[in-house]
Amino acid sequence: MKHLSPMTCGTGEASNVNKRTLYEQDRIAVCSQKRAVGIALLVFVGLFFVAVIIAFATPLSGCSFLNGSIDTEPLTDEELLEHNRFILPSGEEFPWNKSRLPDFVRPLHYTIQIHPNLTTLDVTGWVVIQFIVLNETDFIVFHSRNLRVIDKWVKEEVEDPHRVEPHNISRLLEYPPFQQMYLELAEGSKLVPGKNYSLGIRFYTNISTELEGFYLSSYVNSQGERRYLATTHFEPTYARSAFPCFDEPQFKATFKMIIIRNQQHKSLFNMPIKKIETVYYGYHMELWRDEFEESVEMSTYLVAFVICDYESISNKTTKGVEVAIHTPPGLLPQASFALQSAIQVMEYYDEFFGVPYPLPKQDLIAIPDFGAGAMENFGLITYRETSILYDSNESSSAAHQWVAVVLAHELAHQWFGNLVTMKWWNDLWLNEGFASFIEYVGVDHIRPEWKMMEQFVIEKTQPALALDALGSSHPISVEVQDPREIEAIFDTISYNKGAAILRMLESVLGLNVLRHGLTDYLNEHKFDNADTKDLWDALSTSTNETMKVKTVMDTWTLQMGYPLIEVRCENNTVKATQERFLLNPADNETGVELIQSPFKYKWYVPLTYVTDAKPRTMQLVWMNMNEFTMPYRAEWIKFNVNQTGFYRVHYQGKLWDSLVKTLLSNPFVLSPTDRASLIDDAFTLCKAGVVDASVPLEIAKYLMKETDYVPWATALEHFRSWSKILYERQAHRLLMQFVLKLIEPIYKRVGWADEGSHLMKVHLLLSYSSSSLHTIRLLRSEILSTAILCDNKEAVKEATTKFNNWMQKGARVPPNLREVVYSAGIKYGGVVGWDHCWAQYNASRIPSEKKLLLKAMGSAADPWLLQQYLDACLSRDVVRPQDVRTVLAVVASNPSGRLLAWRHLRAYWMNFQNLFGEGSFTMGSLITAVVSHFSSEFDYVEVTNFFSDVDVGSGARALNQSLEMIRLNIRWLQNNENQIEDWLRKYLST
Ligand code: BES
Ligand code: ZN
Repeated sequence: MKHLSPMTCGTGEASNVNKRTLYEQDRIAVCSQKRAVGIALLVFVGLFFVAVIIAFATPLSGCSFLNGSIDTEPLTDEELLEHNRFILPSGEEFPWNKSRLPDFVRPLHYTIQIHPNLTTLDVTGWVVIQFIVLNETDFIVFHSRNLRVIDKWVKEEVEDPHRVEPHNISRLLEYPPFQQMYLELAEGSKLVPGKNYSLGIRFYTNISTELEGFYLSSYVNSQGERRYLATTHFEPTYARSAFPCFDEPQFKATFKMIIIRNQQHKSLFNMPIKKIETVYYGYHMELWRDEFEESVEMSTYLVAFVICDYESISNKTTKGVEVAIHTPPGLLPQASFALQSAIQVMEYYDEFFGVPYPLPKQDLIAIPDFGAGAMENFGLITYRETSILYDSNESSSAAHQWVAVVLAHELAHQWFGNLVTMKWWNDLWLNEGFASFIEYVGVDHIRPEWKMMEQFVIEKTQPALALDALGSSHPISVEVQDPREIEAIFDTISYNKGAAILRMLESVLGLNVLRHGLTDYLNEHKFDNADTKDLWDALSTSTNETMKVKTVMDTWTLQMGYPLIEVRCENNTVKATQERFLLNPADNETGVELIQSPFKYKWYVPLTYVTDAKPRTMQLVWMNMNEFTMPYRAEWIKFNVNQTGFYRVHYQGKLWDSLVKTLLSNPFVLSPTDRASLIDDAFTLCKAGVVDASVPLEIAKYLMKETDYVPWATALEHFRSWSKILYERQAHRLLMQFVLKLIEPIYKRVGWADEGSHLMKVHLLLSYSSSSLHTIRLLRSEILSTAILCDNKEAVKEATTKFNNWMQKGARVPPNLREVVYSAGIKYGGVVGWDHCWAQYNASRIPSEKKLLLKAMGSAADPWLLQQYLDACLSRDVVRPQDVRTVLAVVASNPSGRLLAWRHLRAYWMNFQNLFGEGSFTMGSLITAVVSHFSSEFDYVEVTNFFSDVDVGSGARALNQSLEMIRLNIRWLQNNENQIEDWLRKYLST
C-alpha cells in the first residue's frame, strides 16, 4: 500500500486501491478492521456524492429525490443552488458548488519544484502561484487531484517578501468529485482587487502508473534490462494531479520549473534548461537540480516534463529554433525521418501562419507507454513510439505517412491550440479539427507525391460523414462541463468533421484567403484565448466582408448532421433541394425528433459541380438554407467536386444514369476523388434505404477499370462493412466471389513485389491514373489484403509461402507486404505461426514492426489462440495497457473472434474501466470496436441488457451510437439480403 496517494478525503483513495488490486492480481491488499470500516464508510459517502452529482448533472430528468416530489419541470438556478450542497466526510459543506472555477482569481505565474523518486514512486513538490483577484474575496478555489497538501500559505506579493505576514488560513477543504480545493482565509482577512498575491503549497503524491498525469513508463534496453522514466500527459484535465493549479484553458500563466533528479537521468520541460546544480540530500546523496527558463503564457494542459535516460539528435531550423528528437538508447537511427520532417514542417508553418514559432526549442520525445497517439505540449511534444519512429528498411509506407501526419498535426497545434487556445473545451474542435485539417496541408507540402489532399476524403471526410448521419451524433460545438464530458468529445466529430468543414471552407475561400485570415486571428489572440466566433470574424475580414463566414459556418458547427442534396432534371433545368440526411430516419430510440436545431436542419451549402463540358473546372453555387435551380444542357453533371463538401448527393433519373454510364465507359474523365465520392454516396444511400442495393452493385462494376488508391479504399471499406453484416448468411460467399472478380485486374497489376524493377512496370501500367509510387504501395496493400480476406487461393499461397520462408529461414519480407503476409500466415497457419509472431513481437525493438505483429495476431482462426491473446491483455507486463484497445479491436473484427471479444469485454469490464479510467476516451472506442457490427435482434438485446446497469463513463455517447448502428444493420439486412443475393447470383452466373 506504500505507493497509494494518501488523500485528505477518502473517495479518491478508495478508487485508487481498487485500481491497483484489480489490475495487479497477485497483489494482496491488507488492512486493519478499523480501516476497513473506515473505507466502507467512505465508499458509502462517496456513493452518496455520486448520486447527488448525477442528480445535479441531469436536472432535466426532474430527479425526485432532490426536491421531494415527482416533477418533470427542470429545476431553476435558484433551486439548483439550494439543493446543490456538497457535504464532505467531515460533515462540513464544500462551499463552492460549480465544476468550473470562479473567474475572479486569475493565476499569473507558477513556480513549480518537483522531486520524483522513480524507484519508490514518491513525489514531493511545491508550487507558488502568483495571482490577481478581480473581486474582493476571502477564499480561493483551485484544482487538485490525489495530492496531499503538507503546507500552504497565502501572501501578498511585495518587493520584500519578509515584510509581509502570510494571511491566516481558516480551512482547506477538498472535494474529490470536482477535483477541487477550497482555501478560506480567517475571519477579517480579505484579498482585494488590484493587488498581487501568491499561493504556496507543499504537497506529496505518487508517480501514477496509469497513462495520465505525471506517470511512470519503462522500456527494455538492448541488454535486456528494464529502465524507467517519468513523463506527463495533462490534456484535458490531468495537470491537477501533478500539481495544484487552476486547470482550465483560459487561465493562462507563465511557468517556471525546477526538477530534482538523479545523476543518471536528464530532465526536459517546455523550455530549455537554464541552470544545473548539484544538491545534497543527507549523507552521500548527491542529486541534481535542473532549473528551466520561464515559459511563455500558456494553459496548464500544455505543461510537460520528462525525467529519463534517453539519447537525442538535434538540428536547427533556419530561424534558429533547436529541434531535437529523444528516444530510448539504441532507437535514434529510427528518428532521423522525424527530425528532418519536423524541421521542414516547422519552417513551412512559420511561413504559412505568418507568425514565427515563439519558443527557442522544440523537443519531440518517444514515450513507450502512451494513451493517445501524441500530445502537443508547448515545446515538448510527446509521442507514442509508432507515431515518431520510422525505419526505412523495416516500416511500411503507411507507417511512414503516419509519422509525418502525426508530426504535422502536433506541430500545427503549436500555433493553433498552444499560441491561441480555445476559451473552453466546448470549442475543442478549434484545436483538433484545425490540426486535423492542417496536418494534411503540412504533409502535402513536404511530400506532394503522397497526394494527401486526395487521401483526405478517405481518412477524414468519409468517416465523419458516416458517423454524423446517426441521430445520436452531436454538433461540433458542444456544451461540456466535467472531465468525463470533455474527454468524450475527443471524437470523430471534433477531429474529422471539424477538419472536413474547414476543408470545405478552404475550397470556397481559397488557401490564400484562409491563410491571411488565420494570420490575423493568430496575431490578434496570441498568448491568449479565443472562440469559434473569433475565427469566423477574422476569416470574414480576410474576404473583405464579401462572405459572412459566421452565418454560413454556424449552420455547420451549431447543428449536428448534414444535408442530402437531391438533384433532378426537369425541362432542361436542374433542381437541387436539401434535407437532413439520416441513416435511420424512422428511429425513435435515438430521440432524433426531440433534438431541435436552431437552423431547422437547413444549411448554407456551397454546391460545387463539374460537367462533361469542362470536367476539370469546378463551378460553385450557394444553397442558402434553401433550394436551387439552374439551366442544364450537359451530358453529365457531378456535384460535390472531389468530395470537398460535407454533404451527400442523390441523383434522380437520368442524372444518375448518365453518371453510371460515364463511370463504366470512361471513368477517368472524373477525378479519383470524384469517383470515390460517387461510390461512397451510393453505398451510404443504400444503407439508409434511399436506394436499393443494385445501385452500389451496378456502379461497383466499373472498379474492374479502377487503378487509383482512393476510390479503391472507399469501395473496399464499404464491402468490408457489408461482409461483416452478411458474414453468417448465404450471400456472403457470393459477395466474396464478386469482390474477387472486381479486384482481379488490379490484383494482377500490382503484383507481389514491393521494390525493384517490378515497380517500374507497375508504374508504367498505372501511368494513366494519378497514382504515385507511394499510393501504389498503399493500393497494393489494400488489394492483397482483400484477396486474402476473400480466400483467393493464389494469394493465400503466395502469402503463406512468404510467411513460412520468413519463419523457417529468416527470409526478409518487404515492409509493405508484411501486413498481408503476417496476417495471412496467422490466419492460415496454426499455433506454430502464432507463437513465432509472438516471439518476434516480444523481441523486436522496431515499434512499427511490433504494431504490425500485434494486429496480425488477431487474425487467427483458432478460437483458443484468440482467447489466449485476449487473456494476455489482462496482464500489463504481457501487453502494454496502451495496446489493449488494438488487440480487442482486431479480435472483434475477425469473424472467428467477435463473440469472444464481446464476452471478454463483458467479463472484464471492471478491469478495463480501472485500467483506462471511466472518464477516458478509450472506453467509448472499446464499445464501438466490439459491438457496432452486430446485426441480429438477439445481439442487440444482449448489448442493451448488459450496459443497462453498467456505468459507461465517457463512453455513453459511443454506446448510443453503437446501438443505433446495430439497429441499422438489422434493418439493412432485412431489407437488402435477398436482393443482394439475387443480384450477385445473376451477375456471377453470366
Ligand atoms: N491533443 C491530442 C492528444 C489527446 C487526445 C489528448 C485525446 C487528450 C485526449 C493530440 O493533438 C492528438 O490529436 N493526437 C492524435 C494524433 C493525431 C495525428 C490525430 C491522437 O492521439 O490520436
Ligand atoms: Zn490534436
